[in-house]
Amino acid sequence: MKLQKNVTIIQGAKWGDEGKGKITARESRNADLVIRATGGTNAGHTIIYNGKKLALHLIPGGIIYPQTICVIAPGVLVDPIILLDEIKELKAVGIPDVESRIKISGRAHVVFPYHKELDQLYELGKKNPIGTTKRGIGPTTQDKSNRVGIRMYDLLLPEEELKQNLEEAVYFHNQLFKSNNMHDKIVDAKKLAKEYKGYGDILSDKIINYDVLVRDTIINNKKIVIEGAQAYMLSIDGLDYPDCTSSNCTSSGSLAGACLPPSVTKEVILIDKAYNTRVGNGFFPTEQPAHIKDDVVLQYDKPYVGDIIRELGHEYGATTGRPRRCGWMDCVILLSAKYALGADCLCINHLDTLGLIGKKLGYIKICIAYKYQGKGINYYPDDIKVTKEFPKPVYVTLRGGWEIKPGVKSYDELPQNLKNYIEIIETISGIRVKYLGIGPKGTDLIEI
Ligand code: IMO
Ligand code: MG
Repeated sequence: MKLQKNVTIIQGAKWGDEGKGKITARESRNADLVIRATGGTNAGHTIIYNGKKLALHLIPGGIIYPQTICVIAPGVLVDPIILLDEIKELKAVGIPDVESRIKISGRAHVVFPYHKELDQLYELGKKNPIGTTKRGIGPTTQDKSNRVGIRMYDLLLPEEELKQNLEEAVYFHNQLFKSNNMHDKIVDAKKLAKEYKGYGDILSDKIINYDVLVRDTIINNKKIVIEGAQAYMLSIDGLDYPDCTSSNCTSSGSLAGACLPPSVTKEVILIDKAYNTRVGNGFFPTEQPAHIKDDVVLQYDKPYVGDIIRELGHEYGATTGRPRRCGWMDCVILLSAKYALGADCLCINHLDTLGLIGKKLGYIKICIAYKYQGKGINYYPDDIKVTKEFPKPVYVTLRGGWEIKPGVKSYDELPQNLKNYIEIIETISGIRVKYLGIGPKGTDLIEI
């Protein structure tokens, strides 16, 4: 039997925070099933409901539509405390039937407080810390790969059995805490089992056999949206190891996390921001100077270009509140992402902000190639740690910026400068631009 191609995959193009929540919300308006497939609470996806802004860390943005079932797939790392808070928050803003529309795969792994402690400890032990979100993502993935992870199903076991599983899971972690004089962090498996069994009880009606739900959805030819987390440049098998996250952040990684075959993919939508940002450490070719040190904004009189972009774009992390590093649009990475992710089309968010940045500075830059080892190249070199040479962006510069009039609904009504900018991106990246994000609201989106 040939499976229907009914799955739309939404993936970030650069270092995250491109506005995946907004596009998931848009694509989910006629979806039946919306899936978070990978990552954990390191993600912070912003959605707006009834004028209220919500940063979702685990629940897919499609929850705002009353017909959707929203699923946390086996590939996700679940922090039950944050999940319960999120459910509360969604109910508080009046989203209907939240409780009955959220499902969690029993196979999804659980993030415990000791994973977050280990996350901090491992960072302290590194000469060059990654600057993780400290949400326990690396250590939970490590336990999962080591086959000592605790899954959502374990939270449904009798308390004594959960305790025994936890004892095994934390055996070596406790030795590490002990040898680092972190005696207060040594895990009391009995206490933890009692607490987490409690979360299991509260969530029990949502913990499901994931494969049956997804299979039925596919057989009945219904629409599925996968909300990718993190982004292409943060992928574990990607271009900037070890400054990355612990999951595969490509479309194939999302399919794997969602336990779906590639043959069901209808469309891969790549999401980018009109300027680029990064939180955490690592190489960022088009980064602009800013007054940021150790994730703190320093006092300054005269802003650098990076400060101007950050201020106008309100670029502070939805998960950690850290100021984001800011720079110009990088089309070289877009081109690589197009092939690695099989992107069919592109959504560019924050076009309104870029126009204001251009107006303030008098120009906008777009990186169209790199200069590397004396040559012009159109790919991201993955050997920069060997050559010790960093690729230098080659820019085209657009004069001025733009302002988007309120109420603009079609591409034709947009300023010519913005259209020129889109044309350059399409030409260099070879990806068709389908959506333009022109403001913070879900409706501030033009489809072309
Ligand atoms: P969304 O889905 C931006 C970054 C962290 C750090 C690196 C590793 O909202 O786009 P981790 O905690 O995953 O071990 O951190 O990855 N990072 C993100 N940056 N947006 C995200 O998610 C991110 N998730 C992880 O800043 O550099
Ligand atoms: Mg984020």
